[in-house]
Amino acid sequence: MKKRSIFLLLIIFSLLTVGCKYDFILPEEVPPIDNGGDPISFSSQIAPIFAEKCISCHKPGSTSPDLTATNAYTQIVPKYINATTPASSKIYTYPTSGTHYAKVTATQAALILKWIQEGTKNN
Ligand code: HEC
Repeated sequence: MKKRSIFLLLIIFSLLTVGCKYDFILPEEVPPIDNGGDPISFSSQIAPIFAEKCISCHKPGSTSPDLTATNAYTQIVPKYINATTPASSKIYTYPTSGTHYAKVTATQAALILKWIQEGTKNN
């Protein structure tokens, strides 16, 4: 009887230790955004991200905001921008956190955030 309970304890103990194996998911490396001193360009750096990942749904007559190149700027500024806390801007939070349909890469996210921090230039 005693032997059996020691045996059981051993099994429980080993199950506990095996169960405590963690899989660390390393976050994607975010390269520092070096734009050669120039501000991020909305038309050549931000709109293409939307064109690649978003406009299958976010297009005229479909889901708002319309993120096609011609309309994206007026659709998201100022409605989806939080100038005081750029990282809380909806255009940044939707594709980077939570369970939205499309996610941007860490680099694309950094570009979008930097563009907001630079004052959402229409350039
Ligand atoms: C497969 C379709 C689909 C794709 C792709 C998609 N979205 Fe969406 N998006 C939706 C739908 C549907 C909604 C409205 C429901 C909701 O808020 O989740 C929405 C809502 C949003 C909103 C909030 C709108 C509001 O008025 O609150 C933002 C911002 C947004 N999407 C950004 C993006 C961005 C940026 C991308 C690309 C990286 C993207 N979405 C890709 C379907 C999509």
